[in-house]
Amino acid sequence: MTAPPLPDSRDAWQHHAARIAAIRDEVAGVRTNDLAFRDPATAARFSFAPGQFNMLYLPGIGEAAISISSAPGARGSISHTVKAVGNVTDALARLTVGDEVILRGPFGTPWPLAELRGHDIVIAVGGVGLASVRAALLQIAHDRASYGRVTLLFGAKTPAALLYQREYDAWRGRGIDVRVIVDQADAGYSGRTGLVTALFDDLALDPARTGLFACGPEPMMLAVVQRAEAEGLAQSQMFLSMERNMICAARLCGLCQFGPEFVCRDGPVFSYDRIAKFLATPHL
Ligand SMILES: Cc1cc2nc3c(=O)[nH]c(=O)nc-3n(C[C@H](O)[C@H](O)[C@H](O)COP(=O)(O)OP(=O)(O)OC[C@H]3O[C@@H](n4cnc5c(N)ncnc54)[C@H](O)[C@@H]3O)c2cc1C
Ligand code: FES
Repeated sequence: MTAPPLPDSRDAWQHHAARIAAIRDEVAGVRTNDLAFRDPATAARFSFAPGQFNMLYLPGIGEAAISISSAPGARGSISHTVKAVGNVTDALARLTVGDEVILRGPFGTPWPLAELRGHDIVIAVGGVGLASVRAALLQIAHDRASYGRVTLLFGAKTPAALLYQREYDAWRGRGIDVRVIVDQADAGYSGRTGLVTALFDDLALDPARTGLFACGPEPMMLAVVQRAEAEGLAQSQMFLSMERNMICAARLCGLCQFGPEFVCRDGPVFSYDRIAKFLATPHL
């Protein structure tokens, strides 16, 4: 029997100390940490593409995969927007400015922004899934002339859970059509209610020139790709960011396996044609 190939990055275990330089409370239970590398050489060298993630490590507690949510070209610090849901993310939420975390990365496949130059892009996301596309939105805003129509369809449970609300006007100012919808309205809310798929109703997609990005809970992503298929998009034009629990991020432990794919290295961003049959299989 031949030995399995080595992980495709020898740097998977290389870790970097970073200090929390700033904290922004976003919505209840979600905050953004700006991290500044302790080593200036690492700060100068570190680069990533929108859609990639880091493993954030707190000694004695554990590690969690978190998308990089800042603009890829920004120097000085990188941002991670974290929802407190368990062991590591709760501990991250207790840190204050000046505290240190250890990170490994960046890992994973990016959103196909280069491939979609000249195309329209529809980004359909739910909840904290918006964190995984924020870097892509900032990159598109920076390079706006390279794309056609760009539309963000964002669904949250309630108006209070609309992540990055204070940034929507700036994104709109850069020519991104931001449309939001909530499951449940409250007294001060006059926008749309329903599921994120309802935002496709008045979109007038041009399927021949559109790429779709989706991120969020799997049932939501499945509903989105089915709706986009009904609008005429091919599976190869749709890209989904998948989430699985991870340990190694190096295609070694198998925890993140999704059918034959390893979300840590083959993903997290997959074209839908590659994973359609696995996404349709419950609890895979
Ligand atoms: C590529 C990628 C990008 C991500 N980006 C972000 C992001 O930008 N922001 C963000 O907030 N989150 C993001 N996540 C999700 C984040 O990684 C998880 O919420 C985090 O790992 C939870 O870790 P924890 O220790 O805080 O929670 P845990 O204590 O691990 O618990 C979290 C939940 O997962 C369950 N769970 C824990 N371990 C396992 C296991 N081995 N098998 C099955 N279920 C388990 C627990 O029961 C609990 O319900 C991303 C995930 C991936 C894969
Ligand atoms: S996290 Fe270990 S194989 Fe992907």
